[in-house]
Amino acid sequence: MICLGIESSCDETSLALVRDGQLLDAVLATQADIHALFGGVVPELASREHYRFIGPLFDVLMERTGLAAADVNVVAVSRGPGLLGSLLVGTAFAKGLALGTGARLIGINHLHAHLLAAGLQEPLRFPSLGLLVSGGHTHLYRIVSPRAWEQLGRTLDDAAGEAFDKVAKTLGLPYPGGRLLDALGQRGDPVPHLFPRPYIDNDTLDFSFSGLKTAVSGYLGEHPEHTAVAGKLRAVEDAPQALCDVCASFNWAVVDTLRIKTERALDRHPDINTLIVAGGVAANTLLRAEMTALMQRRKGRLILPSPTLCTDNGSMVAYAGWLLADRGCEHALDFETIPRGRRIPDDMRCVE
Ligand code: KG4
Ligand code: ZN
Repeated sequence: MICLGIESSCDETSLALVRDGQLLDAVLATQADIHALFGGVVPELASREHYRFIGPLFDVLMERTGLAAADVNVVAVSRGPGLLGSLLVGTAFAKGLALGTGARLIGINHLHAHLLAAGLQEPLRFPSLGLLVSGGHTHLYRIVSPRAWEQLGRTLDDAAGEAFDKVAKTLGLPYPGGRLLDALGQRGDPVPHLFPRPYIDNDTLDFSFSGLKTAVSGYLGEHPEHTAVAGKLRAVEDAPQALCDVCASFNWAVVDTLRIKTERALDRHPDINTLIVAGGVAANTLLRAEMTALMQRRKGRLILPSPTLCTDNGSMVAYAGWLLADRGCEHALDFETIPRGRRIPDDMRCVE
């Protein structure tokens, strides 16, 4: 069975083909440079870029794999959450293709796809704990099967990636700044208690990062020398030690908060032995090290997709689509596209 995956929820247009659970090929066009000019994703520009690229990317993918549209058995597409206009470009393309070729159609929850993509690297086992940390979301899930998800916790305000990007912006670093903050933090040492680990003195599995962002803004307001240096930085190697230490302290506050809640979830669900960490922030060096140490300590299994599989990509959608199609699932042509902030309905028809 060949499944085409289409991703267009934010600022990456990406298509991929999975055959019988194996990735055949993937193509991606990023809009990062365009949105960097504005310091964040501009939704109207994003939709237009998806519209410009989706057709040519499909042609390139077919040419590279030597396949024709008629060879595709399943068309899977991110249906949400994301930017509505951007998602609509992908879902309209997917529906047209499925209608034209007779392929099965599946609308994919973009967040679930991030976590299921781990199966492209290592066999998935259920139940698993899923920590999704991206630019728009921070979620903890108990994953019972590719179809059955129990949400254990979520962010009440900013997502982890959003906190990275906003702190980077306050420092005057280019958007999206998460990767740069990571690189600078690696060169520094965290200063104990410089920044709070937010929202940990409670018994919930929810997150809240807005207080940390405010604490960092306040600190930088009192220490303008860091912003002055960071805004003019040409290379990470030129960064002064004090700036790297501030970045390391921020990295640590975010990562240790994620570690505390993840460990709490594992304590509460002793039947779970596998942790999957995914989403753009899962590319963070400190997070990868801390989660590795956590699962070694607990003698559990950790699946950490490679950094390119962590950021938005079509391969994760194609793989999630293949998993669901393999369980006999499909959507009708009129399934809805769901923007950020609305619950995604469980409206798939499945044989199993
Ligand atoms: O999953 P993703 O590609 O897009 C969304 O669906 O949001 O995640 C993008 C987010 C951005 O906030 C970006 O700054 C963050 O992931 N990010 C990182 C790193 N690489 C990407 N954050 C911290 N450390 C990194 N190395
Ligand atoms: Zn994403």
